[in-house]
Amino acid sequence: MALILADIACVYAAGTSLESAALHGVSLTLSRGDLVLVLGPTGAGKTTLLRAAAGLLSVSQGSVEVDGLPASGRGSTRGAVGLVFQRPESQFFSLSVEDDCAFGPRNLGRAPGEALQDAREALAAVGLDPSTFGPREPWSLSGGEARRAALAGVLAMRPRYLLLDEPTAGLDAAGRQSVCAAVEEARTRAGVLVVTHDAESFLGSADRVLVLRGGRPAFDGDVSALLHALPTLAAADDVDPPEVPRTLMLARERGLLPPGPLTLDVESAADLLAGALPGGERR
Ligand SMILES: Nc1ncnc2c1ncn2[C@@H]1O[C@H](COP(=O)(O)OP(=O)(O)OP(=O)(O)O)[C@@H](O)[C@H]1O
Ligand SMILES: [Mg+2]
Repeated sequence: MALILADIACVYAAGTSLESAALHGVSLTLSRGDLVLVLGPTGAGKTTLLRAAAGLLSVSQGSVEVDGLPASGRGSTRGAVGLVFQRPESQFFSLSVEDDCAFGPRNLGRAPGEALQDAREALAAVGLDPSTFGPREPWSLSGGEARRAALAGVLAMRPRYLLLDEPTAGLDAAGRQSVCAAVEEARTRAGVLVVTHDAESFLGSADRVLVLRGGRPAFDGDVSALLHALPTLAAADDVDPPEVPRTLMLARERGLLPPGPLTLDVESAADLLAGALPGGERR
């Protein structure tokens, strides 16, 4: 049971003078409980990949399957994949948060009472107390609360695969933290694919990372392999390194540290630095 992209290619405006290839030869598997990150510079094809994975964009090569069925077909894959666009809070249209969150489940054919119950459970799952936040007008929420409410609107449909486009863009530290907590919660019941420029927030808990460059895979592997490849990926501007490995990379460039593996963990980084400096001690 997985969402599988097998060697896909996507072309915009195919057959016209504006034809442009946005993805070539990209493969990815998302299973329940997984957190897969897609990184890469602007224009690399990240949003295109999410749209193809959600069945919103047809592929010109390869296949997209959801639990063994083609993603673009209707029927039993309907509702299996939930896509949260960048800045989804701008798409609220109901007078209350809970009505907005109940729209998706109602649209999938659930009875109004059941849909409202699903909405309230989803709000609780993203850390928004449904009795406090449910009746609120969506525009009255803070940025971080609104982002979580929008996520709840998709979770209320109980997708088996959750796809998020830049979920932390424009949020402050508290907002980023609350979105990361909501992603961890969602992961207990779904596979989660996060497209982001914010490796800092998600890398520590990712199972797998795909880096795109010009629509092609520039890296595909787990976090320790990514840390190994990070100096090369950062030099090519494919990935903005998180602060801890960035500091270690700078220390190496300045000859303060011998070559060796990078880490995301601040204590391990402090140990590496302390061990390399005269008079420094590992704890
Ligand atoms: N509807 C479209 N028609 C033509 N070209 C498009 C269309 N949508 C995207 N593209 C092009 O496809 C390429 C990939 O776009 P995409 O939106 O997937 O990039 P991205 O990695 O999500 O970038 P960002 O980080 O800026 O969001 C870009 O060159 C873009 O201009
Ligand atoms: Mg994008």
